[in-house]
Amino acid sequence: MNYEKEKELASAESVKLVKDGMVVGLGSGSTAAYMVKELGKRVASGLSIVGVPSSENTRLLAIENGIPLKEFGEIKKIDINIDGADEFDPYLRLIKGGGGALLREKILAHNSKVNIIIADSGKQVKRLGAFKLPVEVIPFAASKIKEELTLLNLSPVLRKVDGSVFVTDEQNYILDIDISNQTNLTNLEIKLKSIPGLVETGLFIETTSKVIMGVVDKTVVLQK
Ligand code: A5P
Repeated sequence: MNYEKEKELASAESVKLVKDGMVVGLGSGSTAAYMVKELGKRVASGLSIVGVPSSENTRLLAIENGIPLKEFGEIKKIDINIDGADEFDPYLRLIKGGGGALLREKILAHNSKVNIIIADSGKQVKRLGAFKLPVEVIPFAASKIKEELTLLNLSPVLRKVDGSVFVTDEQNYILDIDISNQTNLTNLEIKLKSIPGLVETGLFIETTSKVIMGVVDKTVVLQK
């Protein structure tokens, strides 16, 4: 399967929803990168927008592609937020954070009028959890939270890259946990968020407005 083509198609479709004067949330990851590049082309041909990046990587990419940016704290509300996902289910619930940007991504999603998820067809699942759920934890508490999550049978793994602990844009760590046996995701989210030092989870339960999915050579829109 050519997922790159599907990512490109979904991204191109999502950018059509962006109109003059909008504040646009810019997601992170390889699918969102296609969207940022496409949006850059529209800005070059006269579209007037302001972007709010969800990660330092996206900030650099947006600058490279000529998209004017504002800090999140400077804007009132995001008109449209466009981001990728690691998995989405029939209720448009998501697992995000495979790239480690889940905290800022969730803040942008929460503060957006419209949330568009762009995805290749490999991200569509009947049930979330084949992909490990990233949770962001402060380094001070990481080992204790890992113990607590182990007792909850969530099999946490501290994320490492090339042998070094992965550090997020907010200088935190990521624990990747196994939620494949969980039946009530809303309760799980509440339970996880009640652990002091666990800053955020990559479960996006209510935020998604629609998913634009690339399927071979076309796009399909999924809405609740
Ligand atoms: C970044 O932290 C993630 O939430 C991404 O949005 C997600 O991992 C999807 O990434 P890809 O588009 O690279 O699959």
